[in-house]
Amino acid sequence: MWGGRFGAPPDPRLRAFTRSFPFDRRLARWDLVGSLAHARMLLEVGVLDRESGEAILRGLAGMLQDVESGALRVEGEDEDVHAWIERVLSERIGDPARRLHTARSRNDQVATALRLYVRDVAEHVVDGILELLEVWVEQVREHRETVLPGYTHLQRAQPTTLAHHLLAHVWSLLQDADRFRRVHRVSGICPLGAAALATSPYPVRPERTVELLGFVEAYANSMHAVADRDYVLEALFACAVLQLHLSRWAEEVVLWTTQEFGFASLDDSVAGGSSLMPQKKNPEAAELIRGKTGRTIGALAAVLAVLKGLPLTYNSDLQEDKEPLFDALDTVCGSLRAAAVLARGVRYHPDRMRSALRGGFLTATDLADYLVRRGVPFRTAHEQAGCAVREAEARGCELWELPLQILRACCPGVEEDVYEILSPEGSVHARAVAGGPAPQRVAEQLERAQEAVEEVRRWRRACKPPPIYTAYREGRLLAERL
Ligand code: ARG
Repeated sequence: MWGGRFGAPPDPRLRAFTRSFPFDRRLARWDLVGSLAHARMLLEVGVLDRESGEAILRGLAGMLQDVESGALRVEGEDEDVHAWIERVLSERIGDPARRLHTARSRNDQVATALRLYVRDVAEHVVDGILELLEVWVEQVREHRETVLPGYTHLQRAQPTTLAHHLLAHVWSLLQDADRFRRVHRVSGICPLGAAALATSPYPVRPERTVELLGFVEAYANSMHAVADRDYVLEALFACAVLQLHLSRWAEEVVLWTTQEFGFASLDDSVAGGSSLMPQKKNPEAAELIRGKTGRTIGALAAVLAVLKGLPLTYNSDLQEDKEPLFDALDTVCGSLRAAAVLARGVRYHPDRMRSALRGGFLTATDLADYLVRRGVPFRTAHEQAGCAVREAEARGCELWELPLQILRACCPGVEEDVYEILSPEGSVHARAVAGGPAPQRVAEQLERAQEAVEEVRRWRRACKPPPIYTAYREGRLLAERL
């Protein structure tokens, strides 16, 4: 590929060290698609003659087809996937293959393939998010009236509903979907035509390759086009946050399925056993979703460190963006799939949740709020409700079991109607402001979440494969108009 000025072959030890083919081979499909667009554009502007252009397009299409069918294995001793494509194309079509690299460099080529890849995987990640959201939303619907303690500091704090609780996770995941849509958009700058860094003297049409590849826009600066990997960082950040969200949910699965909590249990098909202790049932998938968060955070840190201080434009260091990126994207895709399966196998136990509502005086704040509504300053109300808690604790009963005259000794202003807000259900129903746990408000929230999910679905449906890829599928690569 570049032997002309060299008098000796590369040292095999360094070649083994510097080559990227073992991991960038997964870009083969996208590099072929990028090459199809490049070749078609060169043909259209007359840089490639008809005969070579058509031979190249046919050759690349044949390779793409064989890669997709598995007939052509992406393997060999090549330096990287780009070298592999040129070699195999040469073997298949001979001399015309030597014209494909006109007006491009591996620098704009790799950036194009990587951006196409990131856009494609971002769509798959959004599919995975939608699948998990579907399971959670179903569970929200089933548990609108299931009351359980909400926690702060992992101490029982105030009553809420399971629907309200699960919706909190739903909104986090909707934010993740948003982030991956952003990743899709910012990866939409097409670097083709930038060549090594300074473009080329050929009449290339970057807007045309943008169109053929379904990108958002052409590069504005050819040096930026080949040097920046900010879209890789954005993808990695989106992966890290998504995985972190999954991990917080997974941690709850671990915690809630303990005998200590007992708020949930796992179907046998989603739990693991112990080789030693016959009775064990372990939440392994949840633990691994939690555990894999380390990789995604590490991947982001790794690429940040690779990019820091790199002079413009291309440097071999940039090759180090791929393994962390691939690993992080594989991790989130795998974790989303696992989370959807696991979530379907989580059984909730409303009775256990109900018994956890006892003994913690979870409605003490409701009592204070009741007093405030009757004109007592909040600080005084806090004190009076605290007195009632002390009283109930001493008697070994719940706040709602205190006789009225005992309650009155602490809180002079209370009437009979105080019992309406002292029970967990009463507390939940009283919090009927927007975003709160009252069933009516949760129903509205669920509707809003479902609209947001629908919006994500619409976006996903509007994603189209690159037009040049569609043309290849339809056998129209050589069509007059494309
Ligand atoms: N394998 C390289 C990478 O992944 C491709 C670009 C190589 N360009 C170069 N000038 N050596 O970044």
